Amino acid sequence: MRKNFERKLQFFPLPVLIIGTFDKDGNPNAMNAAWGGQSDTYEVSICLSDHKTTDNLKVNDSFTVAFATEDTLVESDFFGIVSGRKVDKIKKSGFEYVKGDYVNAPIFKPYPVTLECKVKLFEGERLVGEVVNLSVDEAYLDKDGNIDYDKCKFISYDPVKHTYRRLGSIAGFAFSAGKKLMNK
Ligand SMILES: Cc1cc2nc3c(=O)[nH]c(=O)nc-3n(C[C@H](O)[C@H](O)[C@H](O)COP(=O)(O)O)c2cc1C
Repeated sequence: MRKNFERKLQFFPLPVLIIGTFDKDGNPNAMNAAWGGQSDTYEVSICLSDHKTTDNLKVNDSFTVAFATEDTLVESDFFGIVSGRKVDKIKKSGFEYVKGDYVNAPIFKPYPVTLECKVKLFEGERLVGEVVNLSVDEAYLDKDGNIDYDKCKFISYDPVKHTYRRLGSIAGFAFSAGKKLMNK
């Protein structure tokens, strides 16, 4: 037996994305967004309603996307429950930041991995960004110079229980595990 939920989208796993923007005076802001992902080779798409972040995007066509981690869970959730329209969230979090090398948007130091994006399309509630740089804290690279996901401890958002979940260890090898069935 299976249960039909009808028109209900509970996509999982969802990422916990932190969108970084500057306002017109160069003040940084961060918001939490789970409804987003990669939509082309160098493109991300995020579903955004009306926020301080969208105010900022109207005056500055750049943003960053960082991936939230277990170590930044409290601050990342805070960025999703309080608006920069009311509170200086960055000051309150104590997060240090630098301006991106490629775009006019903040890179928050506690996040190991951040994408620097230029706005490609911002229509209705859909933000599409062209990724122009992948910026990674060297402390989170493996010996070959690639991102070490075990070190990063990224979290995902569970839309059923409204929890943040850990991502697990390697379960198998892509483009390879299925070969077992090829000659069956
Ligand atoms: C787990 C989580 C996921 C969220 N995902 C989204 C999202 O995908 N799109 C959106 O518009 N708001 C989302 N929000 C709500 C915004 O982060 C929230 O309204 C925030 O206060 C906006 O910040 P700002 O006004 O400083 O830009 C999410 C919040 C949480 C806690």
